[in-house]
Amino acid sequence: MGRIIVIGSSNTDMVVKAKRIPSPGETVLGGTFFMNPGGKGANQAVAAARLNGNVTFVTKVGYDLFGERSKSLLEKEGIDTRFIIKDPENPSGIALISVDENGENCIVVAPGANMTLSAYDIDDEVFNTTKEDVFLMQLEIPLSTVEFVAEKASARGSKVILNPAPAKQLPGYLLSSLFAITPNEVEAETLTGIPVDDPLTAGKAADKLFSKGIKNVIITMGAAGAFLRSEGISQMVPVVPVKAVDTTAAGDVFTAGLAVAISEGKDILEAVNFANRAAAISVTRLGAQASAPYRKEL
Ligand code: RIB
Repeated sequence: MGRIIVIGSSNTDMVVKAKRIPSPGETVLGGTFFMNPGGKGANQAVAAARLNGNVTFVTKVGYDLFGERSKSLLEKEGIDTRFIIKDPENPSGIALISVDENGENCIVVAPGANMTLSAYDIDDEVFNTTKEDVFLMQLEIPLSTVEFVAEKASARGSKVILNPAPAKQLPGYLLSSLFAITPNEVEAETLTGIPVDDPLTAGKAADKLFSKGIKNVIITMGAAGAFLRSEGISQMVPVVPVKAVDTTAAGDVFTAGLAVAISEGKDILEAVNFANRAAAISVTRLGAQASAPYRKEL
């Protein structure tokens, strides 16, 4: 079984659930405020650990209580936190999240220390990996760091999975080094210019990304499941319907599930099914890391 090395952000999420997400300039009264650990990198590290992955997490936090708390919670999840760095000048990341009655969310991130995580911060030992190991990244850290890790990890034969969130256009040389990419519909449109809202358009966008040399393109499509494009495969992978309470971190749990299944040697179709099941459980619960399921629940 391979290891999973997650390199990405950690935030503290400030969440309010309300009937609906306010329009610009509008105030709505919501429910009770709650604070819980988040950040796409940390969410994926925690979700992978709970699904039995052997996880190392590299992130950058500030010298503050939020950073201390994030690190100690990650340790409690059994994650290797030796490579977590502290930034003396910037605060730990924060996210302001509104969730509506259908579980849809709206997020603004103040990345703080996350955006100073540079290639120089990453210890060489992190790259002491094998072909079985999986690197997992997102886009809440500088793109130059993502490019550096992807190049170094793929040169060693390790698999690199990118969850391209928040959405951003990406250079061809980065895409061609990826074992897998997991955009949602909006991110797939940003990457390809093709609006994605059904299996047909998802297939077109997935083909375009696949033609750039990505081995496995998986477009997550909420309640419909995920579209998978791989060598000899082009199909929807449906998911059992659930009642969504909060979709925050569903993409994180999906990507973590995919990484765990791949680290265990499962084939790509099996891995997407596994990831779908993990994500479906997570949307039935409030919060980011708080919603990530344990292996026994699958
Ligand atoms: O993917 C959900 C995450 O996005 C939240 O936990 C928030 O911190 C932002 O990073």
